[in-house]
Amino acid sequence: EPYDVLVVGSANADLVIGVERRPGAGETVLGSDLATHPGGKGANQAVAAARLGARTGLVGRVGEDAHGRLLLDSLRAAGVDTAGVLVGGAPTGVAVITVDPSGDNSIVVSPGANARLSPGDIAAAGPLLARARVVSTQLEIPLDTVAALVDALPPDARLVLNPSPPAPLPDRVLAACDPLVVNEHEARFILGDAAGGTPEEWARGLLGLGPRSVVITLGAAGALAADGRTGEPVRVASPAVTAVDTTGAGDAFTAALAWRLGRGDDLAGATGFAVRVGAAAVTARGAQESYPTAERAVAL
Ligand code: RIB
Ligand code: NA
Repeated sequence: EPYDVLVVGSANADLVIGVERRPGAGETVLGSDLATHPGGKGANQAVAAARLGARTGLVGRVGEDAHGRLLLDSLRAAGVDTAGVLVGGAPTGVAVITVDPSGDNSIVVSPGANARLSPGDIAAAGPLLARARVVSTQLEIPLDTVAALVDALPPDARLVLNPSPPAPLPDRVLAACDPLVVNEHEARFILGDAAGGTPEEWARGLLGLGPRSVVITLGAAGALAADGRTGEPVRVASPAVTAVDTTGAGDAFTAALAWRLGRGDDLAGATGFAVRVGAAAVTARGAQESYPTAERAVAL
């Protein structure tokens, strides 16, 4: 059986505290009760794609601990194939997250087992990669591992990369992206001083670095899709929603985009669907628990 979307990436336990405002250096604030949610950009994308109806697998690594079991349970409950999830080597990754009253978050990640997902693990996942139409990855795993993935991609598989958290990317990784999916912060990181003033200028600048296509997420303003093969950047509006928790909304967006591209949508069409999925995800708490079915996203 082919995978519509094979995700290669991280799995974290998200330890979330609601705060009125974030503490400064040397300051203490009181927050809400602690909530523990399954998260991590890779596992989030896998759950989001599966919930939309995609045949999905995850290649990743968790620890042999309660957080690892939480993640495997969430993946399996959503219907994600976990044959590629390795167990052991270090504690499961953890993300310490504060969410403020506007639904915005700040995140510190302890990579743990994610940092032990190695190039050798990618080689061992070859049979899974061979079944993938679209491979989606992020940067919460080592850059060497992402580069090994790019080198191991089957010729007919399409790579979707969200470079988050941002890090300098080898040219051959950038060139393999179709699309490179970034938010404003990631776009500015990659472009550095060359960043222009508008998302359209960022898109043209990013295309100049080699990816075949670029998608820029713009929060409540939607997204911008730029296909290097077919011309000018296209803006896509987002439905208006009340944000409760934006954690993992970008992961849901990227998963939806990857799935629809694999089904043959053009970049702007897939982006139009993905903004609805991302918008639905901000209307509920947590990452994976907040991801919509395709019916719910379309009805938004
Ligand atoms: O993108 C959201 C995710 O980032 C969270 O689930 C957290 O685990 C961090 O990896
Ligand atoms: Na959410």
